[in-house]
Amino acid sequence: MIQVTFLTNNSKVAHAPPNSNLLRVSLREQGGIPFKCGGGLCGTCKCKIEQGLEHTDAIKTKERRHLTEEQFRAGYRMACQTFVNGDVSVSWVPLAERSAAAPRSQPDAAAVSPPPDTSAQ
Ligand code: FES
Repeated sequence: MIQVTFLTNNSKVAHAPPNSNLLRVSLREQGGIPFKCGGGLCGTCKCKIEQGLEHTDAIKTKERRHLTEEQFRAGYRMACQTFVNGDVSVSWVPLAERSAAAPRSQPDAAAVSPPPDTSAQ
């Protein structure tokens, strides 16, 4: 069994089989990682692997829509897309703090205008 420590949830500790999905462990053990879609679309499950990043699997294409290379290097992942094969400690920004910390700074991906059409000549 591996150990997952949910730092933002009073460092709650849970155990799971190797190669468990991080969000599923959180749901099963009430770890508290925020989520909405569970399918790599919304980005709500963004979290930071504070320890044990080497125990996570490869970064998925869906994660690249929500996180930058710099964030990956810093340990950020999307919990619903991440499988862990060793002990990890994970933190996240609680949802209540996210809306207060980033008002309208990040437009929703669906609301971003397409680039100007430069082919009309
Ligand atoms: S819960 Fe929506 S992207 Fe992970």
